[in-house]
Amino acid sequence: MKKLLHPVTITLFVIIFIALLPFLLPSKEVKIFTDDALRQKAISTNMLPIPKRYDELLNVLDNPKNRMTPQKIALGKELFNEKLMSKDKDIACATCHLLDKGGDDNLAVAIGHRGLANPFHLNSPTVLNSALAKAEFWNGRAKDVEEQAGGPIQAPFEMNMKPNEVVQRLDALPKYVSKFQEVFNAPISFENVRKAIGAYERTLLTYGDYDRFLDGNNSAISAKAKRGMTLFLTKGCKGCHTGMSVGGQSIQTFPLRRYLSDYMGMILEPNLRIKASPFPFENRGGFLGADDRLKFRVPILRNISKTAPYFHNGAVKELKEVVRIMSKYQLGNEFTPKQIDEVVEFLKTLDGELVEYKIE
Ligand code: HEC
Ligand code: HEC
Repeated sequence: MKKLLHPVTITLFVIIFIALLPFLLPSKEVKIFTDDALRQKAISTNMLPIPKRYDELLNVLDNPKNRMTPQKIALGKELFNEKLMSKDKDIACATCHLLDKGGDDNLAVAIGHRGLANPFHLNSPTVLNSALAKAEFWNGRAKDVEEQAGGPIQAPFEMNMKPNEVVQRLDALPKYVSKFQEVFNAPISFENVRKAIGAYERTLLTYGDYDRFLDGNNSAISAKAKRGMTLFLTKGCKGCHTGMSVGGQSIQTFPLRRYLSDYMGMILEPNLRIKASPFPFENRGGFLGADDRLKFRVPILRNISKTAPYFHNGAVKELKEVVRIMSKYQLGNEFTPKQIDEVVEFLKTLDGELVEYKIE
């Protein structure tokens, strides 16, 4: 016993203990997955690839209350691009939701009827893949794309039309009278306008490198993107941005962690400037989400690299800065610049092309 406690022995134990310390403490390193394990990690939590065949699409997205048919989808496409549905006959859904620009308008705030900006300074979200969401709009107030479509047509700062005006305008065109008759077996109604547009939106899904990887192609995404995907799946981003659409499945608080600034009754911007506002980032338009409680429908991250500027108010231009804010305020674990780069690389793999469904 005496011998064991000899200072040399103790020193030796201390040295051995220190040498072993890195192995005893929980590792801060990110787990490394094989390609198969990484894919499995996503798929097992319902982060599935976009279906490529029409019958698979119907399985995922057909609406029992608004069955998709080829004629209905074609009519919806025409209406989505129809400027007659706006007061001054100059704005269509496609004016703010450009399908070849990521499904939005790339403006910080949407501009509608007679150049009016959205009064809440709201950014246009993408329509691509939005039919996969569990709720629509920044505060999730519409339950599906059919319900959503009625909003912008009537909003005074978007298309500014009354439902009966829409019906009158379309009724004046024989092509619409016969198409509605064929599709709905009924005269034109505002409800059926919403339904046709909704059926079309259900086909607006995009397939990209991320889906190729999930479908088994290991070389579809880079090693750096795989490290980013690992961070995304293991550090908590997936907790909110999940499902086939990588978002849109729930309503969540943002910012989740507001630190001291909240308790002291003053709000700090990321650069620590004090701002007298309940929203710690640039607060344009005063929109505070569902019930004014900083609750937002989690955005869909597919095609995110093409839909800058970001957040409900379009306040942040750089995707890197968004990822930094998310890691700090939603996870409470600010990513290093290297990790941010990797996650951005992963997010780029979520870009995709519209699937050309062979609809028959
Ligand atoms: C003036 C620009 C503008 C026009 C025109 C417009 N939108 Fe939008 N769209 C927006 C904005 C802004 C939002 C977010 C509004 C909100 O959350 O309150 C939005 C939200 C949406 C969403 C919800 C997406 C999601 O994931 O939450 C869908 C779907 C959509 N629009 C489809 C349409 C359709 C269909 C039309 C035509 C009937 C249309 N939009 C016309 C700007 C526009
Ligand atoms: C607790 C839920 C939650 C977590 C965790 C979370 N987010 Fe978010 N994320 C949101 C919400 C809510 C918004 C919308 C905030 C707003 O618009 O004001 C958002 C917005 C975003 C946006 C901008 C989307 C757009 O269209 O403007 C990106 C990109 C994003 N998150 C990526 C991430 C990444 C990467 C992580 C992990 C580091 C992450 N998020 C973690 C809830 C979350």
